[in-house]
Amino acid sequence: MSEKGWSQLWLDYESKISKNDGETADKVSVAVKGFDADNRVIKSAERELKKALADLDITVVLEKDSDISKEGYTVKGCAELSQNDEYKETVGNSEVAVIVKASDENGALYGAFQLIRSKLTKEDVATINVSKAPSNPLRMMNHWDNMDGSIERGYSGRSFFYENDNIVINKRTVDYARFMASVGINGIVINNVNVKWAASDLITIRFFDKVKELSDIFEDYGIKLYLSLNFASPIELGGLEVCDPLDSGVIKWWENKIKEVYDHLPNLGGFLVKADSEGRPGPFTYGRTQADGANMLGDIIANYGGIIIWRCFVYNCTQDWRDTKTDRARAGYDYFKDLDGQYHDNVILQIKNGPMDFQIREPISPLLGGLTRTNQMLEVQIAQEYTGHQIDLCYLIPMFKEVLGFKTYCQTENDTVADVVSGRTMGNKLAGMAAVINTGNDYNWTGNDLAAANLYGFGRLAFDTDLSSEEIAREWVRLTFDLDKELEDKLVDMLLCSREIYEKYSSPLGIGWMVTPGDHYGPSVDGYEYSRWGTYHRADHLGLGVDRTDKGTGYAQQYYKPNADMYNDPKTCPENLLLFFHHIPYTWKLKSGKTLIQYIYDVHFEGYEEARELANSWKAFEGKVPQRTFNCVSHRFELQVNNAHEWCDQVNSYFYRKSGIEDELKRPIF
Ligand code: GCU
Repeated sequence: MSEKGWSQLWLDYESKISKNDGETADKVSVAVKGFDADNRVIKSAERELKKALADLDITVVLEKDSDISKEGYTVKGCAELSQNDEYKETVGNSEVAVIVKASDENGALYGAFQLIRSKLTKEDVATINVSKAPSNPLRMMNHWDNMDGSIERGYSGRSFFYENDNIVINKRTVDYARFMASVGINGIVINNVNVKWAASDLITIRFFDKVKELSDIFEDYGIKLYLSLNFASPIELGGLEVCDPLDSGVIKWWENKIKEVYDHLPNLGGFLVKADSEGRPGPFTYGRTQADGANMLGDIIANYGGIIIWRCFVYNCTQDWRDTKTDRARAGYDYFKDLDGQYHDNVILQIKNGPMDFQIREPISPLLGGLTRTNQMLEVQIAQEYTGHQIDLCYLIPMFKEVLGFKTYCQTENDTVADVVSGRTMGNKLAGMAAVINTGNDYNWTGNDLAAANLYGFGRLAFDTDLSSEEIAREWVRLTFDLDKELEDKLVDMLLCSREIYEKYSSPLGIGWMVTPGDHYGPSVDGYEYSRWGTYHRADHLGLGVDRTDKGTGYAQQYYKPNADMYNDPKTCPENLLLFFHHIPYTWKLKSGKTLIQYIYDVHFEGYEEARELANSWKAFEGKVPQRTFNCVSHRFELQVNNAHEWCDQVNSYFYRKSGIEDELKRPIF
């Protein structure tokens, strides 16, 4: 049973408001210029400002400025503003004044949260001077919540959206929307991509009222609600025999259905579709292409201003492990590249960051930028499915920064993943980033209190891809806790090195998949080796790794030439991806001069040691963070140390037994 109640995450106004003057609350005044003061989003901005700034004698002006770009804002404190008459007239007699100018209501809300952040992190709001416009038009969270209350890959309790096949709406729902808006999220998919059972009925009268209520709450915070769609709805809901996207009966059915949906949910953003993937139905059944499926839905929903987000996670999940020619890593590109340019304008392809599935280290999907005439968005996972289940500390923003910074060579400039998914490369409007979310109904929302850094961080990064991992970590730490400089630095450092530590004690050099099958926590080196999932390391007594070069599966050739050449040659391939691209002998010399096998031993011992150091570092936070947080995180570090221990010993023993080569340092290997 999860405890009642929930934390306020990085918006804990109460704890940050100075309590020595109870009189101050009424001194905040918010003036609205150019916007409709009754607009729901403006009202939300006003409410937040009044709560968060309650201990300041301040006037905040929310002013419309159509010169600013979409959802953008400028926030200026009085010290930064010239003292002209117009300004004095606007701000009245308050001690401090801040003017938030924005292009639209969302911009005003984001500007308000920018001001709130600087107040909560104890900056002088009189000197604030920030201008921002979002890097990405779409900044989305994908829930994998099921309507029975379970969450696919959820590590933070049960769903706060659903219970017993019903939609739950309460104050927590509102807080959730506030938190998401505060980091710039503007779209939320509320149900699992695997749409089954009651969730298929989300597009029926059974749930319209509740979905509408939820969508209204989101709208208050500038967020559009989206639904994951069951491609087989014409069969499951409509009683048709097929769901062939080119069948006229099927098209008619969708026309009526989508009209009905928009009659009840006029603000719906659109649908997210997982088709032909891991047993889900799709156009392939009828010999149709992914574009046939996506465009059929796209054309119908276009009449209502909606969009279709179509996932590219399509691969053969019934592979024979003996077959070394088929390569799951190739699948996305093989299925989607040839259809480049055929997707309609309101269709966007959602592409996972790597070609496999959210491993701790993978190359960047070659589809990103491989497509040059198709709307595309990046999908990452902050739910730590393969990266420690929100037990192990794994701050993922450094990984996402690497993905965004990757130079695709799809053109001579503006060719990084950040450029591609923001729409800068192709000049397209439908573009952005989505994260599979890590929340649940635990008191702290994210299972491990420190995993909230990923929740916060994804939103901030999607809004502003120029922010560094460290800036985001520091902001989150300052907003969430009240630490002295030394502890603040310590916690920021712990976050920043956590991904590398996890990588060190788990699978080596980009090979991935040595996790316990199904559950995906903890080691099982051969767990996926003889399975149907296309996830192999191919270790034998001489070496390991998958040959994905031009002599192997050819996957490396899916990249543009500079990258293809770099990956194809083990001498130029980045070492952290060596085993992803190459089958390498244990005696191979790495750049450091170490052999591959010695590196595997060393890095696993190191990772385990560093996990223990992390756990040890946390001890300094006792009495400095809320006791509940301290206890929760301490417990998780204990589990992480055990996990790292198992990974280290199992991986090292496995490769010692395969290779027969001793550790030079003669450490215990079993
Ligand atoms: C992974 C994950 C599944 C999920 C799938 C997806 O395979 O393990 O739970 O459904 O990704 O992204 O669709």
